[in-house]
Amino acid sequence: MLVMSGVAFTNKFDGKSMVIVLNDSLRILYAQDPKNWPAPWVDAGVNWEELGLLPRDSNLAKTLANPKVILGKTLFFDPRLSGSNQISCATCHEPDLSWGDGRTLSIGHDHLPGTRNTNSLLNIGLFKELFWDGRSKSLEDQAINPIATLHEMNQEPPALGYKLSKIEGYKPLFEAAYGDERINLDRIVDALATFQRTIRSRKSRFDEFIEGRYTRMTDLEIEGLHLFRTKARCINCHNGPLMSDQKYHNLGLTYYGRKYEDLGRYLVTEDPEDVGKFRTPSLRDVMRTRPWMHNGLFDEIEGILNMYIAGMPQPRPTEAQKSDPLFPKTDTLLKPLDINQHEKKALMAFLEAITTSPTRVERPILPK
Ligand code: HEC
Ligand code: HEC
Repeated sequence: MLVMSGVAFTNKFDGKSMVIVLNDSLRILYAQDPKNWPAPWVDAGVNWEELGLLPRDSNLAKTLANPKVILGKTLFFDPRLSGSNQISCATCHEPDLSWGDGRTLSIGHDHLPGTRNTNSLLNIGLFKELFWDGRSKSLEDQAINPIATLHEMNQEPPALGYKLSKIEGYKPLFEAAYGDERINLDRIVDALATFQRTIRSRKSRFDEFIEGRYTRMTDLEIEGLHLFRTKARCINCHNGPLMSDQKYHNLGLTYYGRKYEDLGRYLVTEDPEDVGKFRTPSLRDVMRTRPWMHNGLFDEIEGILNMYIAGMPQPRPTEAQKSDPLFPKTDTLLKPLDINQHEKKALMAFLEAITTSPTRVERPILPK
């Protein structure tokens, strides 16, 4: 009997066994334009977009030479944006840690702990709403938040322009970016936003596969891609090039009434339907952004998959909680999955194929 690769399943044929090499047929199905891939298993009512290539900047060198980007990058790494002059954006969004901080929860001013896991800023320019609960609509609006927050940078934003204008070396940078030396908060957040839009994932092996280099993914990874789009149901939420529907879902991780309680999107909308919902994270480079989830409580990808396979926590209300309108409801898109050990490995292999090696980022010289 001939087994070429990967899993094989046996069919009884004429008393002898015949082996069908499942993976080779999957490669044939996927080695073509994504619009011809097998239809995904998406529930009725789910608005989805096929997985695909991230938009690329065709002239990255030119973008990075833009004076606004250079200024924004300098500000991003400058601890003088904080009240104590000790904490920069990069303290928590560290390029060597995939633009996150590798911690469960962030630690900021005076070593005060934050309440959520720091997002990676990779591909942040593609998100329409920011933060785990989507409370901010733009990068320009968002930047004030960490600057002002006590447990982050603890700097009064209105005073920041004045503070930076005391640093002579910033004047030429602002002049190059905005035509004159004036330093104010609007320009600071505009430059920070312009820089953050340049933070992108590199091309993954999955992207190369889509571009037609069909040897760039292994059989196991292709099987994982197929499962991701079908039986494992991931594509219901992790879809499009970013692998996020940019919507909010409750995975059952609210810890309602318990130590780690976080009401998520409800804190923004005050709609009881939104209790425990968080924005679907991008899965681009996911194997480099641990620990995972809004609370950073998950360190093992296998553990996360085990939870998806079990259908995620579905907390039942106690008698007293039955009339509580805020009692969280786990998303109905989550249900127990028929995924075996081998298939779980295939899903993990696929998550590796969408993870790239890190880019080495040169830190700017801070102006004096
Ligand atoms: C003390 C650590 C800390 C510092 C300093 C910090 N951040 Fe963050 N950042 C976080 C955390 C934690 C979150 C997630 C918060 C949430 O969702 O409630 C976050 C979220 C973000 C997001 C949204 C990401 C997403 O996926 O939606 C952006 C953008 C961002 N930070 C940019 C910045 C910028 C720019 C600065 C500097 C002006 C900065 N951060 C400083 C910890 C930090
Ligand atoms: C119902 C929508 C939905 C489905 C289906 C779904 N996810 Fe998620 N996923 C989310 C949301 C929302 C989060 C963040 C939840 C939180 O932090 O509370 C998340 C988080 C994750 C994370 C952690 C990422 C990070 O940066 O912290 C991984 C890994 C992940 N999902 C993989 C998968 C895989 C693999 C599948 C299929 C087996 C899947 N997801 C199915 C919505 C979904």
